[in-house]
Amino acid sequence: MSESRSLGASFAPDEEPPITRRWIVNGEPREVSFAPLARLLDVLREQLDLVSLKEGCGEGECGACSLLVDGRVQLACLTAAAQLEEGAQLLTAEGLGREELGRRLGAAFAEEGAVQCGYCTPGVLVGSYALLRETPRPDAETIRQRLAGHLCRCTGYTKIVDAVLGAAGPERASASGSMPGAAGRSPGEPR
Ligand code: FES
Ligand code: FES
Repeated sequence: MSESRSLGASFAPDEEPPITRRWIVNGEPREVSFAPLARLLDVLREQLDLVSLKEGCGEGECGACSLLVDGRVQLACLTAAAQLEEGAQLLTAEGLGREELGRRLGAAFAEEGAVQCGYCTPGVLVGSYALLRETPRPDAETIRQRLAGHLCRCTGYTKIVDAVLGAAGPERASASGSMPGAAGRSPGEPR
């Protein structure tokens, strides 16, 4: 177990007293208590069972631990739980189905075969959701750039881009055919 993991949700008697916070998590009020240096990733996984948040790299490189905090994408592995204010609004992949856009994204990922091992998928869905909230009709290049921080070892990214285009609307979905040579390229990689 890494040093940072040991600073998660359990406490030794001689440690600093835990911090208690109440957040709105996927639309529900939740209370958590954690050690002062606990990572948000550990608190959410261990106390709230939000296991869609994955630890890929633990260093901010892979995007597998992505969630929205007050509408902004955040990496739970690099975020101290104590950084989040009382009343913060958190959205993880578990909560995406609460909205039509989240359901549309899930359906498009399934339809396009954009999920293989699935390890990256919750983080990619959260990133895609944030993108479509901000830019409802992105083009393929915008999607690649916005998802560049999400590493996927399985899909070659093309299916992910197509799925986001599909979720954005049929007029955009047809644009995926105009991505010459896109197969195997990372989102955001130069052509
Ligand atoms: S686990 Fe957080 S970015 Fe990789
Ligand atoms: S589907 Fe396996 S890492 Fe992306």
